[in-house]
Amino acid sequence: MKNKSMLIKQIDLNFVFVFVALLFVSMLASSCGETEPEISEDVSATEITDFAGRQLVYLLDEMDEAIEENPEGRRGPHVSVRSVRDGELFLISSRDWTSGFLPGVLWYMYELTGDDFWLEEARERTAPIEREKTNDGTHDMGFKIYCSFGNGYRLTGDPHYRDVIVESAQTLITRYNETVGAIRSWDFNRETWDFPVIIDNMMNLELLFRASEITGDPIYHDIAVQHSRTTMEHIFRDDNSSYHVVDFDTTTGEVRNLHTHQGEFHESAWARGQAWGLYGYAMAYRFTQLPEFLEQAEKIAEFMLNHPRLPDDLVPYWDFDAENIPSEPRDVSAAAITASALYELSTMVPENSDYYKQTADHMLASMYRNYRSDLGENLGFLLDHSTGNRPGGYEIATPIIYAEYYFIEAALRKQELEGS
Ligand code: GLY
Repeated sequence: MKNKSMLIKQIDLNFVFVFVALLFVSMLASSCGETEPEISEDVSATEITDFAGRQLVYLLDEMDEAIEENPEGRRGPHVSVRSVRDGELFLISSRDWTSGFLPGVLWYMYELTGDDFWLEEARERTAPIEREKTNDGTHDMGFKIYCSFGNGYRLTGDPHYRDVIVESAQTLITRYNETVGAIRSWDFNRETWDFPVIIDNMMNLELLFRASEITGDPIYHDIAVQHSRTTMEHIFRDDNSSYHVVDFDTTTGEVRNLHTHQGEFHESAWARGQAWGLYGYAMAYRFTQLPEFLEQAEKIAEFMLNHPRLPDDLVPYWDFDAENIPSEPRDVSAAAITASALYELSTMVPENSDYYKQTADHMLASMYRNYRSDLGENLGFLLDHSTGNRPGGYEIATPIIYAEYYFIEAALRKQELEGS
């Protein structure tokens, strides 16, 4: 029979054994957590559409009321909504780079439901964006015109929409520079940049690719291909992350600066920038079938999805290199753009199709389950926690309209992929 002190020693040993075993199991679980993201219960496109339908009616009401009270903006009449700032709707004129997203959301709602209510809303909210077709002071023509008129033309075949697309593409290519081989992005900051090209600009090329398809004139397509190649050659680092801004010398075409504007620092990986690149190169591959663009998209996906600082719920911090992770704001818009791009990528790479589709499913579910507004809250926006410009100090962890656009687009792509 064991005496008391032996018994105590035995209990101590058992305790140590159990403690070490528990520690080992928990270390194993947390290290698995780094590679195997937490999985949110899948969400169907129908569930998202039902929720969006109810919430967006509220957004439109709130927006119309706010515009009635405050019709004139600094850059023209208020026509749409961009975000929630200080608890209020932030209204915008057609000039704002985000003016095409709300009409785009409404076109997608029409596509998802077939309901004429959304068709009429989409038409009404698209019309005021037309004045942008001759605005040559911006590279954001694709965001404004393709999301609105582009989707409208795809769904209705309206010849007027077609003309707007073509005229907008003609305006956009006036910003192309032969020596650089790219479309100029911004006109501000001229004391620092000679010819800035930003990764976001890849997104404006869909308008050009479509303009060539519509007209049969290759000029838009060729410029889009050259812009994609020039960007690809200079904006990516060896680890396949992207700078935000590459500044070119217009006399030699050489790179002058590799900078950030919305990221934490020049060498950091700004989350939405990575998402724009991923989406942009997958889209460029869709129109060109050039393997170099598909490879680039896959490399960006690999960088993002295997990043040690991508959280388990797959919604990135606003910058992968933000100083105070995990106490940094997330950027749901980056997740929405990425999810939509991954659905597209899943159709392009048969050997990785399941991986891309399942990851997109998890992102979509995570946004819906963890970042969705309560019905009737957030002034009618669907999602919370996007971060527009952290260094600029605005739109931090708040609802932003482009997150809604790519979130709904992702739901639509999921529905198409699942044939439902
Ligand atoms: N320039 C577009 C963006 O903020 O992502």
